[in-house]
Amino acid sequence: KRIVILVSGNGSNAQAIIDQCEQGKINGEVVAVVSNKASAFALKRAQAHHIEAVCIPHQDFVSREAFDAFLLHKVQEFRPDLVVLAGFMRILSPAFVDALSTKLLNIHPSLLPKYPGLNTHQRAIENGDTEHGSSVHFVTAELDGGPVVLQSKVAIHPHDTAQTLAQRLAQTEWQIYPRVVEWFCDGRLVFDGKHLSFDGSEV
Ligand code: GRF
Repeated sequence: KRIVILVSGNGSNAQAIIDQCEQGKINGEVVAVVSNKASAFALKRAQAHHIEAVCIPHQDFVSREAFDAFLLHKVQEFRPDLVVLAGFMRILSPAFVDALSTKLLNIHPSLLPKYPGLNTHQRAIENGDTEHGSSVHFVTAELDGGPVVLQSKVAIHPHDTAQTLAQRLAQTEWQIYPRVVEWFCDGRLVFDGKHLSFDGSEV
């Protein structure tokens, strides 16, 4: 399966997926890493693995729609079976999501439906939560609202800061995101834009 990963930053989740593809644990190949930020370390990671690294600076476009249209065109050129958002920090317009909706995954650092949006670690701490997590979900037009496939959980410790919590959570993301990508590439996980099924049964 052909996988395109969209990033904006460090790319540790992208790295976990690239590694597992190379190790044969995922029946797929990362054919491109696309960033809206030239400074994203994820682009260097891609280059180190001889994967095409593409930068499309969003500020070069007059509107979100114009950027998204160009991004979609670029992504489609790679003929992806799966598009993985891994720390891609831009909200995607409905036209983009609709065009890819059966094959668009995201990871969000909260136990969805809790805390859609930004600053999730801080919000979980301030709310007095005892646990926190990350959710891998299909992307729909609703922000962080598509069906959740898999979640990881970590305990929140009394002295946790947003940073220490984020670091602990990241390790769990590197476990769950590649697993979901594996299931998708093996045809076990199917999303028709409305319903999610796993091994042929609706979830
Ligand atoms: C992750 O915490 C993910 O949950 C969020 O952005 C972060 C990306 O980290 N969507 P990285 O760029 O994969 O290291």
